[in-house]
Amino acid sequence: MFIDEAKLSIDYVPPNLPHREEHLRKLTQLFRGVIEAPGRFSQKVLILGDTGSGKTSVTKLFGKLLTEIAKSHGFNLVYVHVNARRERTEYMILNKILAALQTGIPLRGLSTQELLSIVLEFIETHNLYLLITLDELGVFLKRRGEELLYLLSRTVDDQLNAQQRISLIGISRNPLFGYILDPSTWSTLQKNMIQFNRYNPLQLRDILNFRIKAAVLDGAVPPSTIDLIADIAGASGDARYALELLYNAGKVADEKGVLRILPEYVRSAKAFITPEIRREVLLDLSFHQKLLLLAVCRLLKPSEDAYVTTGALEARYGLVSEEYNQTPRSHTQVWAYIQELVGLGILTSKISGIGQRGKTTLIGLPDIPAAVLENELELQIEKSKVGG
Ligand SMILES: Nc1ncnc2c1ncn2[C@@H]1O[C@H](COP(=O)(O)OP(=O)(O)O)[C@@H](O)[C@H]1O
Ligand SMILES: [Mg+2]
Repeated sequence: MFIDEAKLSIDYVPPNLPHREEHLRKLTQLFRGVIEAPGRFSQKVLILGDTGSGKTSVTKLFGKLLTEIAKSHGFNLVYVHVNARRERTEYMILNKILAALQTGIPLRGLSTQELLSIVLEFIETHNLYLLITLDELGVFLKRRGEELLYLLSRTVDDQLNAQQRISLIGISRNPLFGYILDPSTWSTLQKNMIQFNRYNPLQLRDILNFRIKAAVLDGAVPPSTIDLIADIAGASGDARYALELLYNAGKVADEKGVLRILPEYVRSAKAFITPEIRREVLLDLSFHQKLLLLAVCRLLKPSEDAYVTTGALEARYGLVSEEYNQTPRSHTQVWAYIQELVGLGILTSKISGIGQRGKTTLIGLPDIPAAVLENELELQIEKSKVGG
């Protein structure tokens, strides 16, 4: 069915992004100073918008573009795109930045501050400029506070006479996270804010058509199917949800050995993906969060109860950890994982009610059959047997 599955995949960035030309232009404008007077100006920009509104793709494309523009102006700019939900600490983020710089310096056992110093020294001696995008910054700030921004932007602000070498783009989902930010940081970021709106069904249709041309056999997707996907995903305005529906509907067609993706296959696909539970969201979970979620699935799949107690869950998680040769995380950590999974909308929690002795927290899985999620998790866990 698919000519090029990779072109529908999560990390692929298409070379043009319909209905986001304006945003790219705005970004380019904001960085004009950086290009025209490298070292004299740096820039900080904040991008806000809902999931699947194109924030990550537009920014990555812009990073590529700016790197090329810099080159044509005779200086070297390195673009680093960091997913701050995946890279969970300041240390991990700085490591990522250093990796992008390809310093070749061994980094074992260094502190965060030392990593930062190495970055600064390296770009100074090699006359490099950096554009760092901190994607999913809202998630990171909620978890870790502002130290990261403080570290990175102090290097920009404090050395008034030094070369301004580091520019930042922060990306966050709505709602605004301004309330947790230091007012001065917030006001700088707010000055250069770009809002990404949700896509409407017509825009989603264009995006789908464009992506289908690159990825799927001609004529395999009738217009009625595209319209249906655009209408379904139009409710959340989420392009990724639209693409995942298309991808999964294609899989259904494949399984049936049919060469056309009919609207019915979209409906089948829809039963198994919701905006909350998508491969991308699952991929970003830590290894032990996946083990914990797998324990939820294993408990709920055969059960007559719709919920599990946290006690039963923790016990099962212990067994699942053992199965994968892992030491289970502490009770406190497991509790924090549960909270995070609830926050992401993957699990629900409620306090047990009438008829039960004592009060306990009950955990539920509202949006996806346990068996489907179990499958996906087992695949992902197999692939990534290590990690935190
Ligand atoms: N304008 C667009 N044209 C083509 N594909 C798009 C467009 N906007 C988003 N996408 C695709 O939709 C998915 C979600 O976009 P992404 O940039 O990750 O959104 P966000 O970061 O806002 O959640 C990606 O696979 C991306 O390639
Ligand atoms: Mg994103």
